[in-house]
Order: sequence, then C-alpha cells, then structure tokens
Amino acid sequence: MDSSIEQQLVQRPVPVHIAMIMDGNGRWAKERGMPRVFGHREGVNTVRRMVETCGRLGVGYLTLYAFSTENWGRPQPEVNALMELLVSTLRAELAKLHENQVRLHTIGRTADLPVACQKELDESMRHTANNTGLNLILALSYSAKWDIVRAAQGLAKQAATGHIAIDDIDDQAFKGALSTCNFPDVELLIRTSGENRISNFLLWELAYAELYFSKTPWPEFSEHDLYTAIQDFQNRERRFGKTSEQLINEI
Ligand code: IPE
Ligand code: IPE
Ligand code: MG
Repeated sequence: MDSSIEQQLVQRPVPVHIAMIMDGNGRWAKERGMPRVFGHREGVNTVRRMVETCGRLGVGYLTLYAFSTENWGRPQPEVNALMELLVSTLRAELAKLHENQVRLHTIGRTADLPVACQKELDESMRHTANNTGLNLILALSYSAKWDIVRAAQGLAKQAATGHIAIDDIDDQAFKGALSTCNFPDVELLIRTSGENRISNFLLWELAYAELYFSKTPWPEFSEHDLYTAIQDFQNRERRFGKTSEQLINEI
C-alpha cells in the first residue's frame, strides 16, 4: 500500500462505482507452463487487493465480472474448478470482508450455479447484509443481454396486468427492472489483459462509463495499476454531451 498516492487520489472525487472485467488468468498461467486453473487461483489474490484498496479509497461499489453465461461453454474441469474456487474463497475471506465492513451482492443467473455455491453466497450475503462499507457485487453466470431481456419481460408483464402504463416505461423504470437497480451506474470500467471489448457485461449500466483497458493480466494487476486507472479517470473531462465551456460555467 502506498498511502501518499492514496492521499493524493482521495483529494479528488474517486469513482463511486468501478466495474472490472478480470481477464487474462488463463494466458498468464500458460505463459508460466502452468494449467489455466493456476491463473484463476492467483487471480484471487488480485481480487483481495482490489477489494481492500477500493475500500480504503472510499469507492462505494465494486462490480467484478467473475463468470459469464458464455463461460459455461468452457471445458467442464475448468468450470468445476472455478465453482470450487468461488466456494473456498468465500469461506476463507468472509471473516475479513465482514471485519472490513464489505457488503456482498450478486448479479446474474445465480440459480444456474451449483447448490453449494448458491448456499455459500446466500450465507455470505446474509452475514454481511448490514455492513456499511464497500458494496462488492459479484457477477456470476452473468449476461447483460439476459438481464435486459429479463427487465423487458418484467415490465411487459406489469403493463399487461395494468400495473404500469406503457408510457411510464422510461429510462428510470427500465433501470429499476434490472438486477443492478440498487446500484448507481458504473463510472469507471477496467478490463485487464489487453482485450478491448465488453464481453456482454453491464451494457446498460456502462452507458456513460469511462473505459480503461490495461495490458496487465489480472493475476499481476496491482494497487499501483488501480491508482493509475483512477488517476486517468480523474484527468478525463466527462462532458455528458455538453461542451467544455458549458462545464466550466457550471462550476
Ligand atoms: C478471466 O480469465 C477469468 C474468467 C473468465 C473466469 P480467463 O480465464 O478468461 O483468461 P484468458 O483470457 O483465457 O487468459
Ligand atoms: C469475460 O472474459 C468474462 C469474465 C471475465 C468473467 P472472457 O475471457 O470470458 O471473455 P472473452 O471470451 O475474451 O470475450
Ligand atoms: Mg479471457
């Protein structure tokens, strides 16, 4: 931890909601002649680093893309290993997360997960439900398209039964029907390991996020890499469709 850099960073607004596509575990392991699972295990250390650092910096929400619906198509032994890693990590980290006031949430089709994972997640969420620090949101069996379709179906059902008028289906109502309804939109998206794509993650919630792509593979992504990403974010001009001059006059 570098407290002087952290002190500098918190002088300016840090992102309220950071989302991370934790990518590159498999390639990182392969480069070392190790099985892909070795990279996933090492990646857990980065998760711990990111959660602790975001907590210290006062980030409100951290959403981690841990497993996509597309990832079910990977070889079964890798899928099994990832599910087991989820359970063992929750077991090992829960006390520390709780101590640090982290509140755990999930988004995605979690009913697809093995029962042991669902149980561990439910217990961890219940255990941390009253915590007031960082909101840690795990995207598991997640697909943004699925979530958008599900939201549309929910609203359509409400309209069909007269619980909502079609004209009342606006941006806010739609947001309210997504699984991320209780979280603010993402301000900074970080993807590690050099791929410049979104891979079906938070399509609605990223509408005005700042995107940051790092070449560093997830297992090596450090506190300093996170500081650099946040500094980069703080130096950007977020215009939201306006002109620079308008923004200056608003201050
Ligand atoms: C990210 O690393 C972890 C998950 C998707 C579960 P990858 O497993 O995608 O690693 P690469 O991209 O193949 O190197
Ligand atoms: C995205 O990474 C999903 C997660 C990080 C969980 P992938 O490695 O699965 O995505 P693609 O295949 O590069 O798009
Ligand atoms: Mg990948």
